[in-house]
Amino acid sequence: MIIEFYSEGPGVLIEKKRRILFIADIHMGIEHELQKSGFYIRSRGQERITRICNLITESDPDMMVILGDVKHRIPGTSYQEFFELNNLFSAIRKLIPFIVTPGNHDPGIEEFLKTEEISKKEGSILDTTGILHGHMIPDPALSGHLILCGHHHPVVSLTDQVGVALKTPCFILGEVNSNIFPDETDEDESTRILMIPSFNELTGYGIEKIFRSPFSPLSRSLIIETAEILLPDGSYAGDLQSHLAHEKNAAT
Ligand SMILES: [Fe+2]
Repeated sequence: MIIEFYSEGPGVLIEKKRRILFIADIHMGIEHELQKSGFYIRSRGQERITRICNLITESDPDMMVILGDVKHRIPGTSYQEFFELNNLFSAIRKLIPFIVTPGNHDPGIEEFLKTEEISKKEGSILDTTGILHGHMIPDPALSGHLILCGHHHPVVSLTDQVGVALKTPCFILGEVNSNIFPDETDEDESTRILMIPSFNELTGYGIEKIFRSPFSPLSRSLIIETAEILLPDGSYAGDLQSHLAHEKNAAT
């Protein structure tokens, strides 16, 4: 198995039978929803489409998986989303086949997709890799596999001795407790997850929030002591437990 990280996404490519590119949480249409909160930002939708196409060209995959939250508005579809989603999917179709694992922001996404471009919300297996957005309890079929998910938008702060901080999206890789699959009997079988950072540059949750107040079955089941933090280019940035302890100390 070959794994390639692409900081320009961020995204990750896994090569087994095929070269498959994974990205998550594009949140097209976020600018329209931010206007309701008083933030007037022009749409960056076309820039995101260009970034995705450039990433496909650079990484040269056989196919791509979008791990959910392609759109932002729930419920319904905004005017901005209606046009930008059609542009996004037609641009990708010109380059490679793709599938979407629907996320909690994706009700109605099926109107923009062909049947073969949608996979199960509860997760499925693609070339031995588990894929799902991450807001639901995963299908038991994913037990024992490496599971790739979105949903969590992880961001880590790196500080030096004088307190200068760099905030950056990051990947989280670790084992999940087997009790997330209650009907599975093989407790020796290890299941790992790789949380993919948000492709949308306006969103992100600090790792403190994700793992001290976990908001998904996967984040609640992650065994913190096993988890590592990887920067968008794949470089190792320490273990999760140490980062959480450091951020807690910095806050007190
Ligand atoms: Fe999301």
